[in-house]
Amino acid sequence: MENKIKTLKDKRIKALAGGGEVRIESQHKKGKLTARERLHFLMDEGSFQEIGMLVTHRSTDFGMDTEKYPGDGVVTGYGTINGRLVYVYSQDFTVFGGSLSETHAEKICKIMDLAMKNGAPVVGLNDSGGARIQEGVVSLGGYADIFYRNTMASGVVPQISAIMGPCAGGAVYSPAITDFILMVEHTSYMFVTGPNVVKTVTHETVTSEELGGANTHASKSGVTHFACANEIDAIQHIKKLLSYMPQNCEDKAPATPYESANELRPELDTLLPEAAQQPYDVREIINHLIDTGSFLEVHKDFAENIVVGFARLAGRSIGIVANQPAFLAGVLDRHSSTKGARFVRFCDSFNIPLLVIEDVPGFLPGTDQEWNAIITNGAKLLYAFCEATVPRVTVITRKAYGGAYDVMNSKHIGADMNFAWPSAEIAVMGAKGAAEIIFKREISQAEDPDAKWKEKEQLYSDIFANPYRAAERGFIDEVIEPSETRLKLIHAFKMLENKVVNNPRKKHGNIPL
Ligand code: HXC
Repeated sequence: MENKIKTLKDKRIKALAGGGEVRIESQHKKGKLTARERLHFLMDEGSFQEIGMLVTHRSTDFGMDTEKYPGDGVVTGYGTINGRLVYVYSQDFTVFGGSLSETHAEKICKIMDLAMKNGAPVVGLNDSGGARIQEGVVSLGGYADIFYRNTMASGVVPQISAIMGPCAGGAVYSPAITDFILMVEHTSYMFVTGPNVVKTVTHETVTSEELGGANTHASKSGVTHFACANEIDAIQHIKKLLSYMPQNCEDKAPATPYESANELRPELDTLLPEAAQQPYDVREIINHLIDTGSFLEVHKDFAENIVVGFARLAGRSIGIVANQPAFLAGVLDRHSSTKGARFVRFCDSFNIPLLVIEDVPGFLPGTDQEWNAIITNGAKLLYAFCEATVPRVTVITRKAYGGAYDVMNSKHIGADMNFAWPSAEIAVMGAKGAAEIIFKREISQAEDPDAKWKEKEQLYSDIFANPYRAAERGFIDEVIEPSETRLKLIHAFKMLENKVVNNPRKKHGNIPL
């Protein structure tokens, strides 16, 4: 037995060495941690249990039969994060550049299958040169096996992808199917084709960072939800993200203990600017409503006219979707609609109640929007709210104009509780534009058209620039003082705690893509 244990120990030592000291040093020089170091920081101490440490590839071409590393470029297993079970894989760039072989893919699939059977999240730490070039089609098959599982797991268990090195070619599609992507600034990049191919095909000169670095994808494309300053920052973000999520779609969103205190927030009574056209940062409202310091903003630098993120209200996890008057007046456009829709669908998949804070002047006009399908993209947000069955509460702080009133979690599309502040303006459009259209003849025939226009604007404003027409109809359940909002929300979400709604049975809907 002694000898046999020694053999095992030697094999383990070899596996733990990855691609060897030189390559590990090179990894560190790039400012990157190794696959195992990342796991050390991610998982609760001593909780990580490795699976498949001794797996090696089966390739024999190009001299590969003599070059094998136990583990084959990916460390897989399970453990806990904040005490909760998580399945994890961490690609090892020091072994064949973390490239994906047939067996490397099998290891990832194995933990994904376990995650599905046992109902726990999957976290992938990606650092890979893509398909193992020496293996050809079996590597591509391996990718497809992962894509298939990502899709089957979507909406069943949360899936998080951290990009901590290269992620190119078709490899980007696994993270893209998962729920959240995090990238590390300056050491990670994602693209379907790299700068060299771009140069050949489109004659554009672009660096990897510009083409597919963390900041590009955080602000321009929206591919990544988080751009993190470094790997440790990314790991902290993963832990925090998971803390708001249930383990699977059958589980409830987690709650932390909360002791009720004075829930009135008098600061909110004076937070809105004097004039309805003036901007303000909706995050200030959010921060007054939620438990102190609990907001985790998602997609912070993308489509900033809508703010989405997780928070806690009286200890319970909620998802927030809020128009942002500080950016483009909080208008809905194609990017903000898609951003909002994806977040709503995540929350709905995983039983996270939704709070909508509404101050929206409508949809953004213009050829850019129309030609880039604001119709289809706006419909995504509408569709996402319509089909969401989680507890849904809306607070209209100021403008709720036009189609955007309907879309932003209105009573008509299934919201459970709709509140409005006395400053709410709920109408088909702003008073100025409305007066111009419905009093066109009167204005043009008036002695002083400008004065007439102003008079009619005031008339329209008096009738509609308030929440009371909607409250009389019951479209608004209660007009509340801003300072009471947190209290009202706590009561409303508590009341909705056991909400059950079953949408019609179907294979799946056809969201406008
Ligand atoms: C096998 C690979 C590899 C790969 C890197 N290596 N990529 N081995 N298959 N795809 C190996 C290298 O041979 C090297 O081995 C080690 O990993 C580190 O690579 P370097 O090039 O020295 O590192 P670096 O300079 O940091 O460059 C990293 C890189 C580059 C940018 C990722 O290696 C690269 O361009 N690789 C190829 C990328 C690629 O074209 N992949 C296929 C994409 S298509 P040694 O022994 O020297 O340490 C694809 C399709 C997926 O993925 C389709 C799914 C549908």
